[in-house]
Amino acid sequence: MNVNLAKAVLCSALLAWPAWLSAEIVNISTPESSLVLDATPGQKLRLMHFGAPVNASEISNLTPGVDVYPAYGIYPEREAALSITHSDGSMVTDLNVKSVTESTDKDGASIKTITLADTKYPLTVDVNYRTYPGQDIIETWTEIRNGEKSPVTLNRFMSASLPVRMGNVWLSSLYGTWANEARVEQRPLAHGVTMIKNKDGARNSHTAHAEVMFSLDGQPAENSGRVIGAALEYSGNYKLFVDTDDSDWHRFFAGINEENSAYRLAKGESFVTPPLALTYSTEGLSGASRNFHKWGRKYRLHDGDKPRKILLNSWEGVYFDIDEPGMQRMMQDIADMGGELFVMDDGWFGDRYQRNTDNAALGDWTVDTRKLPHGIDGLIEAADKAGVKFGIWIEPEMTNTTSRLYETHPEYVIKAPGRTPTQGRGGTQLVLDMANPKVQDIVFNVVDTLMTKYPRIDYIKWDANAPIMDHGSQYLAADKQSHLYIDWHKGLQKTLDRIREKHPDVTIQACASGGGRANWGFLPWFDEFWTSDNNDALQRIYMQWGTSYFFPAIAMASHVSAAPNHQTFRRIPIKFRTDVAMSGRMGLELQPQKMTEEERTVCKNAIADYKKIRPIVQLGDLYRLLSPYDRKGVASLMYVTPQKDDAVFFWWKTETFMNQQLPRIPMAGLDPDATYTVTELNRIDNEPLDFEGKAFTGRYLMDQGLEIPLTHRVDYDKNTDYASRILRLTRK
Ligand code: GLA
Repeated sequence: MNVNLAKAVLCSALLAWPAWLSAEIVNISTPESSLVLDATPGQKLRLMHFGAPVNASEISNLTPGVDVYPAYGIYPEREAALSITHSDGSMVTDLNVKSVTESTDKDGASIKTITLADTKYPLTVDVNYRTYPGQDIIETWTEIRNGEKSPVTLNRFMSASLPVRMGNVWLSSLYGTWANEARVEQRPLAHGVTMIKNKDGARNSHTAHAEVMFSLDGQPAENSGRVIGAALEYSGNYKLFVDTDDSDWHRFFAGINEENSAYRLAKGESFVTPPLALTYSTEGLSGASRNFHKWGRKYRLHDGDKPRKILLNSWEGVYFDIDEPGMQRMMQDIADMGGELFVMDDGWFGDRYQRNTDNAALGDWTVDTRKLPHGIDGLIEAADKAGVKFGIWIEPEMTNTTSRLYETHPEYVIKAPGRTPTQGRGGTQLVLDMANPKVQDIVFNVVDTLMTKYPRIDYIKWDANAPIMDHGSQYLAADKQSHLYIDWHKGLQKTLDRIREKHPDVTIQACASGGGRANWGFLPWFDEFWTSDNNDALQRIYMQWGTSYFFPAIAMASHVSAAPNHQTFRRIPIKFRTDVAMSGRMGLELQPQKMTEEERTVCKNAIADYKKIRPIVQLGDLYRLLSPYDRKGVASLMYVTPQKDDAVFFWWKTETFMNQQLPRIPMAGLDPDATYTVTELNRIDNEPLDFEGKAFTGRYLMDQGLEIPLTHRVDYDKNTDYASRILRLTRK
């Protein structure tokens, strides 16, 4: 990063000098962007520019814009990033720049800190900006420090605000629900407030997502136009909103959702808000996505540079019907198909209470030896024999009323004073109070005990199947009940820190009733997330499209499931199911014993082919080409290696009509001057495609694309209403 701190002193013959001409200017720059601030001491901190890089002489010509961390009290009609009730009851905060400092963190990232001080109270706010070598991401967050004699109350404490100049700005965001996560929504920003929020308490990406994109040149396009992307890195309740008022600016705010979360800061205490990651791209939505992916894999996602294993998960294959022979058979089956890991899902634990359905035993993480007489050791041995690694499911932040844990420690659950706790899944599920250090120990011990007893566990699926259902902590004091949502997440993060410090190598998936934990606030401790409980390949195209706006394929678990599908009951041919799974972190989630011979063969070939393209998909650059949301009958995307010497193109037909006319799709991201040989992967056709084995320049492929037939060339009785293609493009 190149952070310039320049005193822009004009030595010209101007007669009247505006005060800002001797401003202290902070330029936070990345390879393809600059965020320029006027940080003149004694003045408001103001945005001068966020966009393409600007040079030093341009910087001195910029005019200051809008306050970037407005506080509530003076001009109260405007939305504020910060609102404080001071120790004397005053509601007014007035922040001016005090100083600018620079530091470097352990990752080699540069941090520029602008300290703001209140004009009356000894209260300061550090506004931080962090940039990473070679990355087009600027993270911003604040630290609020109470230097007053007694406590202050934070009523709102956003991570950041960013003014976006009005024009023809469109907002893209994700919305969904269980089994239909991450649907893309796009709309022009109009006057009033557009708000995206979460109040689940424990999970935060089932419905709304804490990430947005602003397309500055009108209707969003995948590969062209200026885009600002923003992702809040927080595991808990959030609020992102855009206030468009009578000024010329859309004022974007993002941070922890302050509703019912007023936070008291004692004298001398400080509060650190979670980072908001910002990016700027002139290459459309896909360009902004690539910036998030590249940075995320390197600096945020746990082990983001290590290709993930191809796995079979037992859930949709057997649900709770876990037994030793069944698990062993599944291990052998996935090994026979070329897979590398077997994950035993829910149903393996419980002694006093058996986990035969979802209403018992969470919290009692002992092996149910009635189902697994040789325990986990027996399973790991069997996995060894089969030649695959072994993984296991847990849900450590939760318990059931029917559990030893709850019977011995009812004080550990979330519950409002004097009320019976509301019970979730199975009619008995409760959430543990992560604000309580004793509960943090219990959760730490769930993982630590498993990993200590069975160090060869390779993978953990960490689930979370309930929201916080009552606002009440049995641990927090009466005057700190409003801290629940925040302290619960602080407790979770502390626990995850301890786990990762001791067990850095185990792969951990963040699952939460499907895609409830796809957020950069979780991923420093997790290697991936479960994208959705819905494995229907057609619907996955839409969900994975949205998810890919902010998260890379390496983190996006994508499994081949049975036909008919268990959620939509759609019967999708195995070819299409594998072709969708191969565009993410590929896995299987079905009972292999129920697969037909043809399904096995296609799957086996798909796994072999996935191994060839795994580094391209999981570590390459994503170019989304034609969106399923455009309803053109087809969706397509591709991944390209950073060296542009290898690429993989995915094409899925999303609708079938006789003699339909589908668009031919120009590719993207290739080297125009290089020549690429085309090979079809996971092929089921009797005849190769016309261009099989032929070579084309990147220029031609990006200008014209390739003509993909509407259907597969298979025997008459093998025809279906689905078609999909995966093409590998290898530089000659
Ligand atoms: C959640 C997960 C599923 C599965 C079940 C087990 O719903 O999302 O994948 O693990 O729990 O109970």
